[in-house]
Amino acid sequence: MSGPRLPGDPGTRERIARMVRVDHAGEQGARRIYDGQLAVLGKSGVAPAIRRMAEQERRHLEHFDRLMVERRVRPTVLSPLWHVAGFALGAATALLGERAAMACTVAVEETIDAHYAAQIAALGDSDPALKSAIAEFRDDELEHRATGLAHGAEDAPGYEAMTGLIKLGARAAIWLSERF
Ligand SMILES: [Fe+2]
Ligand SMILES: [Fe+2]
Repeated sequence: MSGPRLPGDPGTRERIARMVRVDHAGEQGARRIYDGQLAVLGKSGVAPAIRRMAEQERRHLEHFDRLMVERRVRPTVLSPLWHVAGFALGAATALLGERAAMACTVAVEETIDAHYAAQIAALGDSDPALKSAIAEFRDDELEHRATGLAHGAEDAPGYEAMTGLIKLGARAAIWLSERF
């Protein structure tokens, strides 16, 4: 890249469109993970905590839904895959138990936290509205991570291996959604 770019020039617009696209995909995935967890744990003791997080994901997703329309950003072509994979990940970890479900939340939210932090840094002053939304959602994701830890995520059997694998998958999903 050569020199500073002005907001609204094609490079910046495309970069921001990619951010909206990947964030929309991520929030959609998050929503589906919690759907999958609730399909298994909907009547358990952790259900209210999961529902609270799912409700915030719904708000995040609605925001990016709106942004996609306003800014005419197309969704990732991989969206149908994340729809299925998100639910499967949520349901599979929930079947391993409540703590495994919470470990999944910790892994996903730590990945999203790093992703949002990188976006906030990359945005600089180029899009204050998007930046403040991402910052707000990032706070919610950190709260979800804390909820997961408070519910014994780290006591889940195979915590390190499982969270390592989920983070790898989540990072791959981010990488792909930014490009396709
Ligand atoms: Fe979210
Ligand atoms: Fe979240």
